[in-house]
Amino acid sequence: MGEERTRPGERPRVVLGVAGGIAAYKACELLRRLTESGHDVTVVPTAAALEFVGAPTWAALSGKPVSTDVWTGVHEVPHVRLGQGADLVVVAPATADLLAKAAHGLADDLLTNTLLTARCPVVLAPAMHTEMWEHPATVANVATLRSRGVVVVEPAEGRLTGVDTGKGRLPEPVEIFHLCSDVLAHGAPSPDLAGRRVVVSAGGTRERLDPVRFLGNRSSGRQGYALAQAAAARGAEVTLVAANVTLPDPAGVKVVRVETTGELRDAVLSATTGADAVVMAAAPADFRPVAESDVKIKKAEDGSAPTIELEQNPDILRELAATRAADVVVGFAAETGDAHGSVLDLARAKLARKGCDLLVVNDVSGGAVFGAEENEAVILAADGASVEVPHGTKAALAHVIWDQVASRMTPRS
Ligand code: CTP
Repeated sequence: MGEERTRPGERPRVVLGVAGGIAAYKACELLRRLTESGHDVTVVPTAAALEFVGAPTWAALSGKPVSTDVWTGVHEVPHVRLGQGADLVVVAPATADLLAKAAHGLADDLLTNTLLTARCPVVLAPAMHTEMWEHPATVANVATLRSRGVVVVEPAEGRLTGVDTGKGRLPEPVEIFHLCSDVLAHGAPSPDLAGRRVVVSAGGTRERLDPVRFLGNRSSGRQGYALAQAAAARGAEVTLVAANVTLPDPAGVKVVRVETTGELRDAVLSATTGADAVVMAAAPADFRPVAESDVKIKKAEDGSAPTIELEQNPDILRELAATRAADVVVGFAAETGDAHGSVLDLARAKLARKGCDLLVVNDVSGGAVFGAEENEAVILAADGASVEVPHGTKAALAHVIWDQVASRMTPRS
C-alpha cells in the first residue's frame, strides 16, 4: 500500500518538479507562492535543472532537503514515497526530454520515478523552443499524456531564450499557481474539451466620453477568467477576449484585450468563426456617447451639467445566437426581480429574447457578485432544463457551465 495522502487539517503536499530549462528560475516564484499559501512543497529538480538554479536555492525556499537522484536517503525509499504521498505533482518547466520520459514511463532519476508512482493529479507546464514544441515527437507525447489525464498546459507565446520569439514560453508563475490551486480543489479535470475551440468574453467595456472619462461598469472579469482557465484545463483551445481586466492571464489561454463594446464585438465575432462554443461572460456597456470629445469636457460657469447624447451598442450575444456563430452559445444575466416578475421569470424571457442555448443567471438583488471570489447561479437551457449551482467558487461554477456546454456540443465523428 502507498503512503497515506494528506488528511483533513494537514497542509496539502505538493511535489514541484523542475526540469533543465532556462525557465527554471521562474519556478522559484511558483515555489514561493505555493509555500506562502500553506502548501507543503518538496522540490525535485533534475540534474540539468541544477545547472540553472542550484540546490541551496530550492532547499532554502522550500525549507527541505533537495535531491535529484534515487540514491540519497535510500532507507526512506524516496523514489516511491514522494509520489505516493503527494496531493499534486507539478513540473515547471517541463522540457521536451521530460515530456518524452513521462510519456514513455522512463524513470532514471527521482523526478521521473515520482511521476510513475504518483496517483494524484499531475500538471506539466512545458517550456521549450517552438521547433521542439511543434516536433511530431513532442506533439505525440503531449497527446499521450493528456489522454492519460495529465494536465499539460499550453505554453505561452513570446520571447524565448536568445533572440527568438514564438510559442514555447513558460506561462507566468502566478498563472501556474492558480491552475494548481484549481486542480488541488477540484481534481484533474477530464480532458472532455480536447480538440474543441471555445471563446470566452470577460470584464466590462468602457465607452470614452473624452480623453479622461468613460462610461463603464463594475465587472471584475473573474467569472470569465475562471471559465477560460477551466476550459483550458479540460483541454480546449481557448481565446479569452478581455475588456479592461487587471487579473493575470490564465495559463494556456490566448488573451485578446479590448476596451469598448465595438472592439469586443469585433474580437468575439472574429475568434468565434468555426468555434465549438462561445460564452459571453463580459458586461458590455449597452450605450455609448454619440460623439467622443477630443478635449476634456469642462464645467460650465453657470453650474449647469452637460447633456450627453447616447446611442445603443450592438447586442453581441443576440448576434452570435442569430447567426449560430458557434455550436453552443452561452449568455449571462445579472438580474433583480421587479414588478414584472421574479428573477427566474425575467431570465426565462431574456433567454428567449437573446436566442442563446444557455443563460447563466445570477440573482444580484443584494449587489453581491461584482468582484467577489464566489458566486451562485441557475443555468437555464433553451431546451427547458435548469441546473441550480449552489454557492461556491467561480471556478466550481465554471466547471458546471462547461459540463452543460459539453453535453450540448455536436459529438465528434
Ligand atoms: N450582452 C451582449 N451585448 C450587449 C449587452 C449584453 O452580448 N450589448 C450579453 C452579455 O455579455 C450577457 C448577456 O448579453 O451575456 C446579458 O446581458 P444583460 O446586460 O443582462 O442583457 P441586456 O440585453 O442588456 O438586458 P437588460 O435590458 O436586462 O440590461
